[in-house]
Amino acid sequence: MSDPTSLQGRRILVVIGGGIAAYKSLDVIRRLKERGAAVRVVMTAAAQEFITPLAAGAIAGERAHTDLFDARTEFDIGHIRLARDAHAVVVAPATADLMAKMAGGHADDLASTVLLATDRPVLIAPAMNPRMWNHAATRRNLAQLIADGVQFVGPNAGEMAEAGEAGIGRMAEPSEIVAAIEPLLRRPAAGATSGTLAGRRVLVTAGPTHEPIDPVRYIANRSSGKQGFAIARAAAAAGAEVTLVTGPVALADPPGVMTRRVESAPEMLAAVEGALPADVAVFAAAVADWRVEKASKAKIKKEPGGVPKLAFVENPDILATIAHRKTQRPRLVVGFAAETENVIAHARDKLERKGCDWIVANDVSPATGIMGGDRNTVHLITRAGVESWPDRAKDDVAEMLVARIAAALGGK
Ligand code: C5P
Repeated sequence: MSDPTSLQGRRILVVIGGGIAAYKSLDVIRRLKERGAAVRVVMTAAAQEFITPLAAGAIAGERAHTDLFDARTEFDIGHIRLARDAHAVVVAPATADLMAKMAGGHADDLASTVLLATDRPVLIAPAMNPRMWNHAATRRNLAQLIADGVQFVGPNAGEMAEAGEAGIGRMAEPSEIVAAIEPLLRRPAAGATSGTLAGRRVLVTAGPTHEPIDPVRYIANRSSGKQGFAIARAAAAAGAEVTLVTGPVALADPPGVMTRRVESAPEMLAAVEGALPADVAVFAAAVADWRVEKASKAKIKKEPGGVPKLAFVENPDILATIAHRKTQRPRLVVGFAAETENVIAHARDKLERKGCDWIVANDVSPATGIMGGDRNTVHLITRAGVESWPDRAKDDVAEMLVARIAAALGGK
């Protein structure tokens, strides 16, 4: 359900790049209009191979702009006004080529010129073939765009338009793109955390891990990843450069967050180490304590003689490993403790054992509904003492934690 006023009075410039996902941009425009936004459209030449300026203009309610040297555009608006009049700019689909142009500061057509001329928040929704997305050049361009303050949403995993191709590269859904625009337009409220982590690198782990038994079976737990994702989102909203390392969850990549998806604890540790250095690391993942010593390469068959004997080994403790590092230890290491009894006492003990600076402890006994739910009641345990935060939404827990982190790091 859309709130017909959530974007009332906001002006959004939609830049459409040349990819098959361009047809979904029409739906993005429609949804923005539905929420009360005024929408202007710029299309690249390649975009016009997929959808017509007439269609985009009809939905936006004004002519779509296509040419840098179009006398009509230049006289009535001009490319600089196109860039500046908007409250936010959305590039959907952001093709590999358009991302490369943005990262390189090119300005050889209307779309790239407007993107270079704007000083407004920019959100890109990348869409391309998975190999192009994974190419070193695209990774480099994405890293540059993130460093330049560009936000991104998606791409998602799934089937590609090309027959038989699948992987990460599908443009985020229009509803996800619109949801990612709204925070860009939020005017910072008094006391908001916006910008308080600017220039900081934050690493967050989230979700469960899956420890394979054989190619089709695994050991897992009920973590939904919601709290960790909320922390990553809140840290990004506060201006941090965020890497989120997550086990398998059914959540979309948070906008503007470098998201790395892993399966098992050893993979999570490798991804976390690969994301250092960081100023802050928040370990919200529910990492499996044990894994099967030798996962079978083939599916274990049901034999009449009895059940298989599985031998377990301990997983690396990712939090303790990072907290005890001699080099590149983040200045602030925050662990989570999910307990079902003696929550605070166990959390205090964990703080010492794991060598972290803070523990966010919560009671996950089934009656609380916290596992998989949207609310959380936590205690923040530091060496200075314990603070108990009354029950609140996981998003609010995340915002409070981010505000605390910003305060602890102080000015740069
Ligand atoms: O020992 P326990 O699992 O309760 O500790 C919870 C904290 O430790 C969480 O922050 C969790 O992310 C982290 N942890 C970890 N690696 C493990 C086990 C737990 O990073 N193998």
